[in-house]
Amino acid sequence: MYSVARFLVFAIVSVAAAASPLASASSSSAFPGSTAKVPGLNAVANAAGKLYFGTATDNPELNDTAYTTILDNNRQFGQITPANSMKWDATEPNPGNFTFEGGDVIRDLARRNGQILRGHNCVWYSQLPDWVAFGNFTFDELIGIVENHCGTLVGHYRGQMYAWDVINEAFNDDGTFRQDVFFNVTGTAYIPAALRAARQADPHAKLYINDYNTEGTGNKSTALQNLIKELKRDGVPIDGVGFQCHFEVGGVPTTLVENFRAYEALGVEFAVTELDVRMTLPETDALLEQQKKDYQSVIDACMAVPACVGVTIWDFTDKYSWVPGAFPGWGAADPWDENLVKKPAYDGIVIGFEDR
Ligand SMILES: *[C@@H]1O[C@H](CO)[C@@H](O)[C@H](O)[C@H]1NC(C)=O
Ligand SMILES: *[C@@H]1O[C@H](CO)[C@@H](O)[C@H](O)[C@H]1NC(C)=O
Ligand SMILES: *[C@@H]1O[C@H](CO)[C@@H](O)[C@H](O)[C@H]1NC(C)=O
Ligand SMILES: *[C@@H]1O[C@H](CO)[C@@H](O)[C@H](O)[C@H]1NC(C)=O
Ligand SMILES: *[C@@H]1O[C@H](CO)[C@@H](O)[C@H](O)[C@H]1NC(C)=O
Repeated sequence: MYSVARFLVFAIVSVAAAASPLASASSSSAFPGSTAKVPGLNAVANAAGKLYFGTATDNPELNDTAYTTILDNNRQFGQITPANSMKWDATEPNPGNFTFEGGDVIRDLARRNGQILRGHNCVWYSQLPDWVAFGNFTFDELIGIVENHCGTLVGHYRGQMYAWDVINEAFNDDGTFRQDVFFNVTGTAYIPAALRAARQADPHAKLYINDYNTEGTGNKSTALQNLIKELKRDGVPIDGVGFQCHFEVGGVPTTLVENFRAYEALGVEFAVTELDVRMTLPETDALLEQQKKDYQSVIDACMAVPACVGVTIWDFTDKYSWVPGAFPGWGAADPWDENLVKKPAYDGIVIGFEDR
């Protein structure tokens, strides 16, 4: 709940702030918004020595000009990840029949805007066409399919990607390998096969393994570190680790820095790849204030470890967040609200980059 007096004070502040072209738009919600006056999150991240601050986006949102006006500002977002249009179901819906139309739209947008691209993703158990998931393939057949998919996909964007999430979500939460079609048929052989095919297709793209619940210390993170050690021992190309960071308000692990340092010590870079911080609805001032702290904690941890190259949020506005669809009763996870107004979370990100 909020008091009328508080709302009036905020409304006056936001009218005054709206006079500055760099200030946030006046809030149409009853909650306090951002008061930060910076040219944008990527500008602040770059000034702090990071390569990018970026966002995921998706093709169906691109007809929303209020949305794209923010998306296209490379001082706000220096990096773009296609949320869906480079996944297997979108790019190879039938065996050997590749379609890059949706992905190319995002690629062209990023190129126009001068934004770095992260490719997402080559091998994942979900959003996988039935012909792969239920193909009843032999070991050799499935390895060939993985190599052809990764090689063709990564090759199509050769020279245009900063990094690729080659392997996505290979582990269960207890640190055992996920028993998906790839593991059931090939064991872990699909992992080096995918990484080698990606390297051959684009020698300059950084090759990442991306996962969730690996952000803090624990069995799942230990398992991922062990995989990276094995890949390096075997001479398999592996450059980076993606920490998705889909968190709950008040639930950011306290061991982020300790965990991140363990990856740095393995000689890989890493990135925060899918950050959002969801809350139980409805929003309250207290939840928004905690969310601001949570966003800051993640940026603080990235700033504390030089191997952290950048941060990507999993879309920037609650208008297009995946959260309410995936977690009924939860939402408001992004730094911009449904009306494209900046929330306190925006200021938490700025403070994380600036307050050192
Ligand atoms: C964009 O297109 C989708 C359908 O693909 C539609 O639902 C939505 O209303 C459109 N948005 C705008 C702002 O035109
Ligand atoms: C390939 O896919 C496209 C649509 O994605 C379809 O129109 C075409 O018929 C497919 N071709 C083959 C050989 O499956
Ligand atoms: C899967 O393939 C094997 C060998 O080709 C065959 O023996 C088996 O019947 C197939 N199973 C199904 C469910 O198609
Ligand atoms: C993989 O094998 C496990 C154990 O046999 C089984 O439970 C699971 O359904 C299999 N997954 C797929 C995608 O075939
Ligand atoms: C982590 O793994 C150890 C054994 O390696 C096991 O004893 C422990 O229960 C596991 N912890 C969790 C939370 O799964």
